[in-house]
Amino acid sequence: METSYRIQKMSEPALLKYYPLVSEAQKKGKKVYFLNIGQPDITTPEGFLKRVNSIDQKVLSYQAPEGITALREAACGYYSRLGLNYDTGDCLVTNGGSEALLFTFIGICNAGDEILTAEPLYSIYKEMAAATDVKLVGFKTYAEDGFALPDPSVIEAAITPRTRAILMTNPGNPTGKVFTKKEIEVMVELALKHHLYLISDEVYREFIYGDEGYQSPAQYDELADQFILVDSISKRYSACGARIGFILSKNQALMEQLKKLCQMRLAVSTLDQLGAVELLNLDQHFFDGILAEYTKRRKIVYDALQNIPGVICKEPMGAFYFMAKLPIKDASHFIEWMINDFDYLGETVLLSPANDFYLNPADGADEVRIAYVLNGADMLKGMTILKHGLEAYCMAFPKACK
Ligand SMILES: Cc1ncc(COP(=O)(O)O)c(C=O)c1O
Repeated sequence: METSYRIQKMSEPALLKYYPLVSEAQKKGKKVYFLNIGQPDITTPEGFLKRVNSIDQKVLSYQAPEGITALREAACGYYSRLGLNYDTGDCLVTNGGSEALLFTFIGICNAGDEILTAEPLYSIYKEMAAATDVKLVGFKTYAEDGFALPDPSVIEAAITPRTRAILMTNPGNPTGKVFTKKEIEVMVELALKHHLYLISDEVYREFIYGDEGYQSPAQYDELADQFILVDSISKRYSACGARIGFILSKNQALMEQLKKLCQMRLAVSTLDQLGAVELLNLDQHFFDGILAEYTKRRKIVYDALQNIPGVICKEPMGAFYFMAKLPIKDASHFIEWMINDFDYLGETVLLSPANDFYLNPADGADEVRIAYVLNGADMLKGMTILKHGLEAYCMAFPKACK
């Protein structure tokens, strides 16, 4: 029996393929530091579980398809603290940012329509595009200049009659890139000029290390009708397992259509929604301690990477990832070798190969993504292991090194 061409176009995220190798290595007693995935180790604020544990309901019934009012109110309160004026009618609760993105793709694109985005990109966008028969079109950004936006003419040249939207990830995964005000203006202007939606995936919004403050296309009233904000509590509150995300837009006609998708999947988990209310009601100062912790980790990794010969990496200003060029030719081979054949004092690291973050898998062959989601001491160990691993790899495979 045949399966659909849409599902056949989808593929398993590259980072999953290493897990069988990792469990083999672990069975042999090797300790593996997981620097490959954006799963924060920070404790989820206790309010979430307290609220869930105090639920006094005899029947866990379906909730409103668009999300419970208390959660949408709490979300609007959070945005108002950022200076954004959304009300509950502008807000849909989704099963994570993932469902928010999927609904957005379905809601704005017909089969064969195009969405334009910067590469390297969050790899799951590719799977969402395949599942919805959307064509993702990339414009390249580079490690050498900190993944700066290319000249607007480069982006404009990629716009076709099928382009429906520009999708920006700010701060970026995998790059950690935070768009400047000027870069945001470029995208806002392009969206206005070409009548495109501008989707801003801001799930890493609270992880910004510079002083520029919050900058978003959400602040441009003239774009309101074309702007879609995608959000999630996963990273911000270290609550990846709660599966709560949001779509926000002032475009009421669009929101009415998107609501049909919410109705189709009936509801989002009652427990997760109630717990999430507590998170979104947290004072903005809650993020101060978290940001301080990530700032420390980021410095440890950045300093260590600067001391590894041949590594190219500018200091990322957001999220919790480094995208680094290594002095090797095939990062996938190196990563596999680190798991199978290398250890430093009985320990090794698992990194993410960057080719998954490009539309063409031949791109990014010499790049890896490093997630700084472990405590400072472990990150330091991880970087020491990486340094020794690169030395040993290049001794073993000189032709595979630059
Ligand atoms: C850029 C980006 N957007 C969206 C998501 C989806 O997150 P979730 O579905 O957990 O809300 C992720 C998760 O890693 C992400 O990195």
